[in-house]
Amino acid sequence: MASVTLKHIEKIYPAQDKPDGKQNLRISEEGVHAVEDFNLEIKDQEFIVLVGPSGCGKSTTLRMIAGLESISRGDLYIDGTLMNNVPPKERDISMVFQNYALYPHMTVQENMEFPLKLRKTPKEEIRRRVQEAAEMLEIKDLLKRKPGALSGGQRQRVAIGRAIVRHPKVLLMDEPLSNLDAKLRNQMRAEIIQLRKQLKTTFIYVTHDQTEAMTLGDRIVIMKDGVIQQIGTPEEVYDHPTNLFVAGFIGVPKMNFFKGTLLKTGTEYKVEIEDVIFPLPKDACKTLVSSGTLVQDVIIGVRPENILLMQTESLTQSGSTAKAQPLPTQPANAGLRALPGTADVSELMGATVQLHFTACDGDRTAVIPALQWESMQLQPGQPLAFSFRGSDIHLFSETSGKSLLREPEKV
Ligand SMILES: Nc1ncnc2c1ncn2[C@@H]1O[C@H](COP(=O)(O)OP(=O)(O)OP(=O)(O)O)[C@@H](O)[C@H]1O
Ligand SMILES: [Mg+2]
Repeated sequence: MASVTLKHIEKIYPAQDKPDGKQNLRISEEGVHAVEDFNLEIKDQEFIVLVGPSGCGKSTTLRMIAGLESISRGDLYIDGTLMNNVPPKERDISMVFQNYALYPHMTVQENMEFPLKLRKTPKEEIRRRVQEAAEMLEIKDLLKRKPGALSGGQRQRVAIGRAIVRHPKVLLMDEPLSNLDAKLRNQMRAEIIQLRKQLKTTFIYVTHDQTEAMTLGDRIVIMKDGVIQQIGTPEEVYDHPTNLFVAGFIGVPKMNFFKGTLLKTGTEYKVEIEDVIFPLPKDACKTLVSSGTLVQDVIIGVRPENILLMQTESLTQSGSTAKAQPLPTQPANAGLRALPGTADVSELMGATVQLHFTACDGDRTAVIPALQWESMQLQPGQPLAFSFRGSDIHLFSETSGKSLLREPEKV
C-alpha cells in the first residue's frame, strides 16, 4: 500500500535565484513561486504523470516528494503519514533520473546491489532480488559490464533496475527516456508499461512529452508556470481540456484555434466564424445555459482529425452554404456549413495524411484517412472547403482562455 497525498504544496525559491524570465512564475516578497498550491491524491499503485513545458515545476514537485528538496508550504503524506521532515532514505521511495546517475566504477551487478547493501540486506536476498530485476529488464547478460560499456538504453534499464530492487513503495521517474532516440524511447515506453504490470508500486513519472503522458498515465497532471492546469485521465484531458493551454498542449498535431463569436437565440447557442454559423449541440447548449454564458468573443478549437475536408466545386461564394458531395470514405457531410481555405503541403503518415492549409488568417492542420486523400490529392495552392461537427467544437473564452463547455467545478 502506498498512497501519496499532496496538500497545498508550494515551493518558493529565494528571489535572488530568479529564473531567466522565460517562465511567468509568480514572484512575491517571499521569493519565486516555482510550485503553487499543488493538490493531488495519488492512489496506491496508480501511475501518475506530471507533464508540462520546461520550467513549469515538474522536477521540483518530484524532488519534494523524494525529500531532495524542502517543502516551503503544505503537507506531504505517504500512506497517511506526514513526510515533510522525514529524510529521503526513510521515505521508501526510489528515483530514476534522466542522466541515469550510475556509479561508473561499479559493474551493473554492483550498481544494482548497492541500494540493498546500504540497507544491510542479507546476501542471499540481494542475489535473488538483483536476478529478479535483471530478468524483468532483460539485462542478465550485462551484469559483469561497467556502465561505460553500455548503450544509452541499456544504462537506463540498469538505472531502473537499481531503483526497483528495493521494492520501493513509490517509484519516481524524472524524464527517464528523454536521452534516448525516438525508436528506443518507444520501445522503453512499452517496457515501462510491462514493468508497471509486474511491480505493485505507485508510479510518479515526469515528462515534457505529451505522447508519453497520454500513453503511460492513469491520470495526467498538466502544469504551467508552477500551477496545475488540469488533472484527469488521458481521455478526459483530451476530450475536455479545461483551458486553451491544455487544449494546445495535449494532442498531436495541435488543435486548430479559430476566432469567432458566441451567439444566442433563446436557449440555443451558435458560433460564428467569418460569417459562417455553426450550431452547437444540445448538451453544449445546456451547459452554456446553466452557466449563464453570455454572447461574447470566443476561441473555437477543433482537433485536426475532426476537420472535414470537402470538394470545392459546389461551394457557393464565401463558402457559407456549401452543399458538398460527401467523399466516399467520409461520413455524410452534405448540408454542413463550410469555410474556405487554401491547401498547403501534405505529409503521408502511413494510414493518415496530415494536410496543412491556410484558412481564417492562419495555418491549420487536418488529419484525414490516406484512402480519402487518394481521391482528393490537393496540390499546394489549390482551394478547399472544410467544416466540422458541432459536437467536435471546443469552446473557450477569449478573455480568460477557460473552457466554456465544462460544467463548473463542484465544490
Ligand atoms: N535552486 C533553485 N533556485 C531558484 N530557482 C530554481 C531552482 N531550481 C529550480 N528553479 C526554478 O524553478 C522552476 C521550476 O523548475 P523545475 O526544474 O521544477 O522545472 P521542470 O518542469 O522540471 O523543467 P524541465 O522540463 O526543464 O526539467 C524553474 O523556473 C527553475 O528555474
Ligand atoms: Mg525537470
